[in-house]
Amino acid sequence: MADRRTAKQWRATRWGGPETWEFAEVEVPEPRQGEVTIRVGAAGVNPADYKHVAAPRAGLQLPVPIGYEVAGVLSAIGPDTEIASGGGAVGDAVVAFRIRGGYATEVTVPAKDVFAKPARLSDEEAANLLLAGTTAAQMLHLADVRAGETILVHGASGAVGMSILQQAAEIGARAIGTSSEASFARVRRFGGLPVEYGPGLAERVAEAAQGRIAAALDTVGTDEAIDVSLQLVPDRVRIVTIVAAKRAEEEGFHAPFGAQPESQAFRDAHRAELLELAGSGRLQVPVARTYPLAQAPEALAFLKDGHPGGKLALIP
Ligand SMILES: NC(=O)c1ccc[n+]([C@@H]2O[C@H](COP(=O)([O-])OP(=O)(O)OC[C@H]3O[C@@H](n4cnc5c(N)ncnc54)[C@H](OP(=O)(O)O)[C@@H]3O)[C@@H](O)[C@H]2O)c1
Repeated sequence: MADRRTAKQWRATRWGGPETWEFAEVEVPEPRQGEVTIRVGAAGVNPADYKHVAAPRAGLQLPVPIGYEVAGVLSAIGPDTEIASGGGAVGDAVVAFRIRGGYATEVTVPAKDVFAKPARLSDEEAANLLLAGTTAAQMLHLADVRAGETILVHGASGAVGMSILQQAAEIGARAIGTSSEASFARVRRFGGLPVEYGPGLAERVAEAAQGRIAAALDTVGTDEAIDVSLQLVPDRVRIVTIVAAKRAEEEGFHAPFGAQPESQAFRDAHRAELLELAGSGRLQVPVARTYPLAQAPEALAFLKDGHPGGKLALIP
């Protein structure tokens, strides 16, 4: 009988914060038809990684393997199986998103979620492209952002915010982006006009806009961000938040979340396009820090502070 492969993987074995997770030795299933195994080079880190296991959730059973996206190399391929971008051989560099259990040294995943990694991107960058990137694409789509418009981006210096700025520039829209003053250079680097959040925000944004704000895309979820959006955007169906679900429901604007089937369908359908954009150098993924995989809780504690300054990656 062939040796069974094992890997180290972070799993939530009860509901709670990363400090309660286990870094377990797990069996890596031999890939069946339609599956591949990836030796992880870097795992992407997202706020959703800790949020979705913080409390019991319908349809989710413990233990929950953590991590939605990775980059690495194919280490095994199921029979008669091709990856989503076509072909695929052991040793090929790949990126995978929306998967389960990416915080691992090796993981077996559906081949339909695995794509050839653009050579231009490092593992750390590729592993952090698609969750933020597809979320940003969905927000721009829901807000119906068009060329020549001016939009407001709350949290423009964050992972989703920086992707929105770059994708808005591709569309030909102009973005005013809120951030702390310490992050202004990052907002400018991606084509945004930075404005500091805090009291007086609406006046500062109106002055920077010098005209109509067509849409607001919120990645922060504070009452300040929502109130300013409602004040400045004439048509509230052109406001999108990815955090303030309750206010969106009460006041009639968009709040897409990754667990919604329509969000999953949109995001899955836009993975290839975003990989192409990043592969051509028109969409960058700024990585602020890397951590050894074993230090995932430390990485998440830093992310939770709210000012990571770019993406974080876990290195097995
Ligand atoms: N619904 C979805 O499908 C979905 C998908 C992805 C992410 N999300 C959520 O979206 C949020 C952002 O994710 P991310 O990965 O972009 O996070 P991130 O990279 O950690 O960025 C956080 C951003 O928030 C800004 N910020 C912190 N405190 C603020 C305040 N008081 N007022 C205004 N801005 C403030 C920070 O700006 P400075 O550092 O400049 O202060 C930073 O740019 C998270 O809550 C995440 O869970 C939701």
